[in-house]
Amino acid sequence: MDQVRAVVVDPAAAGRLALKQVPAPAPGRSEALIRVRAISLNLGEIRRARAADPGWRPGWDIAGTVEAAAADGSGPKQGARVVGFLPVAAWAELVAVPTNSIAVIPEKLSFEQAATLPVAGMTALYALGKNGSVLGRPVLITGASGGVGQFAVQLAHLSGARVIAVVSRAERAKYAGECGADEVIVGDLSAAGRFGPYHLILESVGGKSLTSALTMLRSGGMCVLFGTSETPEVTFDARQFYSSGGILYGFILFDEVKLQPPAQGLARLVDLMAAGRLRSPIEVRASWTEIGSIAERYWNREIAGKAVLTL
Ligand SMILES: NC(=O)c1ccc[n+]([C@@H]2O[C@H](COP(=O)([O-])OP(=O)(O)OC[C@H]3O[C@@H](n4cnc5c(N)ncnc54)[C@H](OP(=O)(O)O)[C@@H]3O)[C@@H](O)[C@H]2O)c1
Repeated sequence: MDQVRAVVVDPAAAGRLALKQVPAPAPGRSEALIRVRAISLNLGEIRRARAADPGWRPGWDIAGTVEAAAADGSGPKQGARVVGFLPVAAWAELVAVPTNSIAVIPEKLSFEQAATLPVAGMTALYALGKNGSVLGRPVLITGASGGVGQFAVQLAHLSGARVIAVVSRAERAKYAGECGADEVIVGDLSAAGRFGPYHLILESVGGKSLTSALTMLRSGGMCVLFGTSETPEVTFDARQFYSSGGILYGFILFDEVKLQPPAQGLARLVDLMAAGRLRSPIEVRASWTEIGSIAERYWNREIAGKAVLTL
């Protein structure tokens, strides 16, 4: 097969995304060829697709079956059901994925469930591990109605943290509650102060949210900053911050996976999901032929949690 269909930036299409023919992938020696069955959307790639040049190919999260195992013998065998992660261009019928970015999924997990795990699940898992054990400690999570947020609340709860979740609107408080948050704050983050000071804060909203978060750390507490969904512009009291002994950690998943390969994080997440301890926060299921309109709805904040598309 010389050509396969893939999601490509097309300024004339709804949501600037369309399915087009692209060259079929040619796997390297340590890459498995995967026939993709489900993909999931993340805010970062939709943001990037909205500004990208025509022809750019988004896509990080996929699940499917191994069409051809890696030539070097690493990774899963042909026919295995897998979840995988690529830094770009993963939304295609066939993709070549390094075997250190793949985990096998059991029969009991659907491709749709597994496809939600790579970016959102790994970001939550790796960010929660940044300041040691959270057992019995207060953890604050902003953007808790989103994809990363719903995984983070569940994983923090599973790890025995006291979880304070922040959502932007009252109708979305239930998502954080169902994930196991001990307290759910709606709107202004400053109301979270009474449950602190915090051992760990996962912050992805930016602006006033980050300003408030930086006043709520205990000495040695860490704010893991991985997003600025509202705005990257922030004013904060620098003296108050350094006097607190808090730590601000800039988190980029693409750098974190160099320290801890996706295969490890994905295997851990798959195990938790297969054991019924981690739920996939899927709100929308559709065909990938609807990629443009679903991306538009996601960008307009009409979807809480994950949108999953099947091929
Ligand atoms: N650094 C990294 O490696 C990395 C990895 C993954 C994600 N991220 C970033 O982390 C953020 C979350 O990603 P995601 O995929 O989970 O996105 P998502 O599913 O769209 O969730 C976004 C969350 O932020 C909230 N939010 C959005 N805009 C807001 C605003 N203007 N004011 C207040 N709250 C707002 C949303 O609340 P509503 O429910 O009210 O819309 C939702 O809870 C994004 O900014 C993404 O780019 C970064």
